Amino acid sequence: MSDKAILEYDGKRYEFPVIKDTENELAIDIKSLRSSTGMITIDPGFKNTGSCESEITFLDGEKGMLRYRGYAIEELAEKADFLEVAYLLIFGELPNKEQLETFHEDIKAESQVDEEMKKILDGFPKSAHPMGVLSSLTSALIAFNPTSVNISSEKDMYHAIVKILGKFPVLVAWTMRKKKGLPLDYGDDNLGYVENLHKMMFKKPSKEYKSNKIVIDALDKLLILHADHEQNCSTSAVRITGSSHAGLFVSLSAGISALWGPLHGGANQAVIEMLEAIKEDGGDTHKYMDKAKDKNDEFRLMGFGHRVYKNFDPRARIIKKAADEVLEDLGIVDPILDIAKSLEKVALEDEYFVERNLYPNVDFYSGIIYRALGIPREMFTVMFAMGRLPGWIAQWREMRLRHEPIGRPRQVYIGKTYRPFKPLEER
Ligand code: SDX
Repeated sequence: MSDKAILEYDGKRYEFPVIKDTENELAIDIKSLRSSTGMITIDPGFKNTGSCESEITFLDGEKGMLRYRGYAIEELAEKADFLEVAYLLIFGELPNKEQLETFHEDIKAESQVDEEMKKILDGFPKSAHPMGVLSSLTSALIAFNPTSVNISSEKDMYHAIVKILGKFPVLVAWTMRKKKGLPLDYGDDNLGYVENLHKMMFKKPSKEYKSNKIVIDALDKLLILHADHEQNCSTSAVRITGSSHAGLFVSLSAGISALWGPLHGGANQAVIEMLEAIKEDGGDTHKYMDKAKDKNDEFRLMGFGHRVYKNFDPRARIIKKAADEVLEDLGIVDPILDIAKSLEKVALEDEYFVERNLYPNVDFYSGIIYRALGIPREMFTVMFAMGRLPGWIAQWREMRLRHEPIGRPRQVYIGKTYRPFKPLEER
C-alpha cells in the first residue's frame, strides 16, 4: 500500500503523505497543500476532514464500535464507574485503588463553589433553560478562579482538572434546583461521586437523603456512555476555543453551548418531546415517519442518524437494554418506551432509513431513563454535559499538551469582487 497520495492538476503533479493510524485507517496529510499548490479544500461540516491526531477515543462507524483509550464501551459500562472512566479518559490509564481514592479526595477538596456565584444564578428567571444557566455559570467560574492553566506545570493542569470536576456537579445540581424552586444544596463528602451529584440534585430540604443503588448505578452508566465521542461538534468547540489559549472553564462553556443544539446533545430532550407528540397523536408512528422523510418538512426523526455511525450506535444498544432493566427494577411502566420501540422497528424496516443507514443514536433512549430517574426533561442535555465533561477535559488537555496551532479554517469566497465606494446621495 502506497504511503503517498498524488494530486494532478493543470499539468502538474503533487505528492502528499498518507498516514495510517493505529486502527489502520488512512488520512492524506494536506498540511503543505496551499503552500505547494496554492489551493485549499472545502468540506462543509468537516465530514471528510480530520482536525487533529488523538489518542483518547476510537469510533468505527461502520462496525458500530466505541473505545475509550482502547477499552470497549460495553466493558466500561458494565465493569467501571464514572470516576474511573473520567480518570482513564483524562490521564490515559485506568487508575489503581490508591490513584482513584486520591483523585476523588482531590476532587472533593475542590467541590466548594463561591457563595457569590449564587448571585449570578439568582439573576436568571426560573424559566431560563438549564443549559443556558450552566454555560453561564461555567464561564463565570473563571471570575472566581482567575489564574489560567499553566500547561507546562503538570501540577497546575491537575489542579484545574480536579477543580472543575469538583465544582461542575454543584452547578449541574444548582441549575435543577433553581428550576424547581428548591434551596441550593451542598454535597456530602461521604458519598460517591455520582451518588453525591444525585444527592445535590434531589435531596428534599425536610428529608434525609436516601440513596437508591438502582438509580445511582443507572445514572453512573449513562454518564459513562456520554463521557467522550472523539471530535463531535461540542468537543470541537472546546478544542477550537482552547486553541486560542482561552482557559479550560471558558472552553468548556463553549462546549456546553454547542451541545445544547437539537441536532447534537439537545436531541435527547427533543426525542421525548417527539415521542410525547406521537403519543398525543394516538401513537401514529407512520405519520411522523412520513414527516421525517418529507424534504419539504423540517421535521427529523430525533434520536436517529449519526455523522459517524452508519450502524447501530453501541451506546443506544446499551441504553435500550438499561431502559428495560431500570423501569422494571423501579416498577415503572412508561408508554413512551413502547412508542420508542415501535418507532425504532418501523424506522429500521423503512427503505428511506435503511438506504441512509439511519439507526437510533445515544439520544434515542436516554431520555426514557432520565424520566424514570425523575430528571426533568429540560435537564436531559445538562446530564449529557455532565457525562461529557471528562471527555471535554481530556480533549482540551491533549490539544494544549500537544501545542496544537490556533484553529483557523480557510473559506471559498463567493461574494462580490472589488467595487468602488458609492456616496449616500448616489445610492
Ligand atoms: C449526538 O457526532 C457525535 O459524535 C455526536 C454524538 C456525541 O456523542 O457527541 O454522538 C451525540 O449528537 C447524536 C446525534 C443527535 N441528533 C439527533 O438525533 C438529531 C437527528 N439526527 C440528524 O439531524 C442527523 O442524523 C445528524 C445531525 C445526527 C447527522 O447529520 P449528518 O451526518 O449531517 O447527515 P445528513 O444531515 O447529511 O443526513 C444524510 C441524509 C439526509 O437525507 P438526503 O439529503 O441524503 O436525502 O439522511 C437524512 C438527511 O435528510 N437524515 C434524516 C435524519 N438524519 C439524517 N432524515 C430524517 N431523520 C433523521 N434523523
